[in-house]
This record gives sequence, C-alpha cells and structure tokens, in this order.
Amino acid sequence: MKTCIIVGAGGRGKDAYAPILAREHLLRVVGVAEPDADRRHAFCETYGIAENMAFDGWQSLFSQRRLADAVLICTQDRMHLAPTLAAIRCGYHILLEKPISPLTAEIDILEDALVGYDCVFMTGFVLRYTPFIRKIRALIDAGAIGDVMNMQLNENEGYWHHAHSYVRGQWNNADTSSPLIVAKSCHDFDLMLYLLGRHCTHIASYGTNGYFKAANAPGNVPARCTDGCAFADSCKYNAVRQYTAGEGRYFVHKFGCGTEDTAIIEALRSNPYGRCVYHCDNNVCDHQVAALEFEGGIAAVFTVSAFSQRNTRTIKLMGTEGEIGGCMEDGEIVLRRFADGTTEHFTVTHDGTKHCGGDGGLMRRFAEAVNADERFADARIFEAHRLALEAERVRKRNES
Ligand SMILES: NC(=O)c1ccc[n+]([C@@H]2O[C@H](COP(=O)([O-])OP(=O)(O)OC[C@H]3O[C@@H](n4cnc5c(N)ncnc54)[C@H](O)[C@@H]3O)[C@@H](O)[C@H]2O)c1
Repeated sequence: MKTCIIVGAGGRGKDAYAPILAREHLLRVVGVAEPDADRRHAFCETYGIAENMAFDGWQSLFSQRRLADAVLICTQDRMHLAPTLAAIRCGYHILLEKPISPLTAEIDILEDALVGYDCVFMTGFVLRYTPFIRKIRALIDAGAIGDVMNMQLNENEGYWHHAHSYVRGQWNNADTSSPLIVAKSCHDFDLMLYLLGRHCTHIASYGTNGYFKAANAPGNVPARCTDGCAFADSCKYNAVRQYTAGEGRYFVHKFGCGTEDTAIIEALRSNPYGRCVYHCDNNVCDHQVAALEFEGGIAAVFTVSAFSQRNTRTIKLMGTEGEIGGCMEDGEIVLRRFADGTTEHFTVTHDGTKHCGGDGGLMRRFAEAVNADERFADARIFEAHRLALEAERVRKRNES
C-alpha cells in the first residue's frame, strides 16, 4: 500500500478523507502539514504519525525531498496554487481540493505546470463518483432516453446551509474565498460535462446577492442572535436555535467548543456564526442561474439557490426517447420511456460517506490511481472550473 500526507487537517483533510483512507486501507496516512497545533496533534495521535512527519504548514513539508507517494491538499480556496506547485516540484501524486482556484490566471498556471507531469493529479469532484450519478450515466450510455436534448440541474443548498457557509461563514466573501458558483457549483459544471460528454459552447448567467441585507431584517434587530433579538422565536435563521437544535448542529465541530448547548451559545457570542444574517458582510450570490449550450445543440439550465428547505441536488434529463429525473440525497431515479409508456424506479444506495458516497468513491479512485502509479490528468477538471468562472464573469457583466 502506498503512502500519503494530508496537507490541511480541517473539515476535508481530517474529517472527510483521512478516515476513509485509513478505515478502508486505501493509502497509509504517514504525515500531516497543519499550522493549528491542536489539530495537528490530534491528527498525529489518531493516525500514529511520527514526530518528524508532522509539519506546521505546507511550506516546511515541501521544502524537503518527497516523503510519501501522495499528498491530499485540503487547504482553503485561496491557498491551493502555491502548495500544489511545490508538490509538483517534489513529484507527489496529488489530490487537490476543489475549487482548484477562484482565479482564471491560477488555473492557467496550474494547467501549464501539469503538462507532461508523470503522476496522478485529481481534484475533489466527489459527485461524479456517487452511485447516483454513475447510475444516471449508465442509463444515458445504454441509450435509455435516446439522444439527450436538455438537462436541468438544481443545487438546492438548504437555507440553513447557505446561511452557515455563505452568509456567516468561510465562503461568504468572493474576494477572500470564491464566488458561490465557483465554490459550490464547480462540482455541477463537472457533472454536466460528465453526463453530457460534450463541451460547452455558450453560457449566460444571472443572479444576485440581494437578500441577506439589513433592509430585509424583520425589524430592528441586534447584530448578534445572542443579543436578545425580539424576533428570535420566528426567525428561521436564529443562530441559537439553528446551532443547538437545528440543522446547524452538524457544523458545531467548527466552533471548537464541544457539543454542550451552553458552550455553543457562549461561542456564538463572539464567533462569526452568531451574527444576524441580515447584518453580515457577505458579498456572494444567494441565488444564480446559468444557461448553457453544449456541442450538438444540447441545452442545460443550472440553478444554485439558498432558498430551499433541504440541501439536495435534483436533476432532469430530457432525451429523444425518454426522460430521467432524480433526487441525489433520496437516491431516487425515475426513467420514463416514450415509446412504450413505461416508468421504471431505481433506488440507489451508497456507503454512508459524505456527499452521497462521493467522498468514498473519490478516495477509492484516487488510491487506485496512486497504488497503480497511474498518470491521470482529466482536462474536464479545468473546463468545469473555467465554466464556473465564466458564469460568474457573465453574471457580473449582466448585473452592471
Ligand atoms: N470536495 C468537496 O465537496 C468539498 C467540500 C467542502 C469543502 N471543500 C473545499 O476543501 C477545501 C478545505 O475546506 P475545509 O472545509 O476542509 O476547510 P478548513 O478550514 O476546515 O481546513 C483547512 C485547513 O488548512 C489549514 N491550513 C492553513 N494554512 C495552512 C498551511 N500553510 N499549510 C497546511 N495547512 C494549512 C487550516 O489550519 C485548516 O485546518 C476548501 O478549498 C473547500 O472549498 C470541498
């Protein structure tokens, strides 16, 4: 079994990927680069990392010769290019989290740097590895709906998820992280390319970040939900309720305060997540659509929106012989054939890893490629990012 080092032991590196690699004996986790001393020590303890394989950042790791077969670069969006170029210089197999970068110039630099690179390079496009998407792709490939003519893809973020990540949290500012359609939806552009198997020829996009503003507050509200808001009982974004009893509980590990309600409320008094959503400094869209034309005249419409109850993707593909519809989180796929009027229902299950089994699927594919010393670079990775960035560029132009 080949070895790997985790760079950035946060939500993705420590909580999502490393446990799968270790549990399924896919790659041996032998090192970590993480500046947060508590996280680094906890990681070393869990995986039995030797002292000389624990680094306080990617800089000190990559200043040495290659120390393992692969690295998983799981730092934040704006901290992807430099460690990846350094990892390429050292000759590692690389998994780089998505988005590769929110800047076109950086994507160009990375693509150039990978020309002729003799190792694996993959990105965190977990969704194309889900059993749900694989099943839909198999139906299309088997000709179940004839030639695909149209596609609708919706990324229903869940109002609570959007508030956590894109209003109060780490991806709320396009200038320090990424625009919503890049951070959240480069995945979806990858899915469109993966399922249609065609290049995109034209793209249009509209969207705004108009809702989470003071003007939409229910009345005179304080800056923090912990400051005695008169609308606390009726506000769906009430941070105290969201993080102690609502869907937001899932994110509480990010607070580093434990899971007691009193500790969570105390943390909300000063951390970004206790802020009233109508008094934040977010500048990313709360909804955006993109209309795309692909080669052969296939048309697709993609919508990402904060305004949904559930955090789920829904999809519909319309073909000359039938249609396919589905909901990823439910694992439900419906196939209708025009000629004989039949309807078939499929229920797809997964391994329980996050993103409907995509995290597990990606790790297995990455480990397979590393263990076989493959040379794997998929041009669609870059195309999907460029489409997301182009959608944002066009949206901004339409806005002005
Ligand atoms: N593939 C997916 O579906 C998916 C899902 C969520 C997030 N992401 C992406 O994954 C990336 C990481 O997200 P996250 O939620 O794990 O973030 P995080 O903030 O939880 O983790 C990032 C970690 O990088 C560490 N770090 C900072 N500077 C470093 C340095 N110099 N060297 C090494 N480590 C350093 C931080 O201390 C932190 O622990 C982001 O780009 C995010 O957009 C991808």
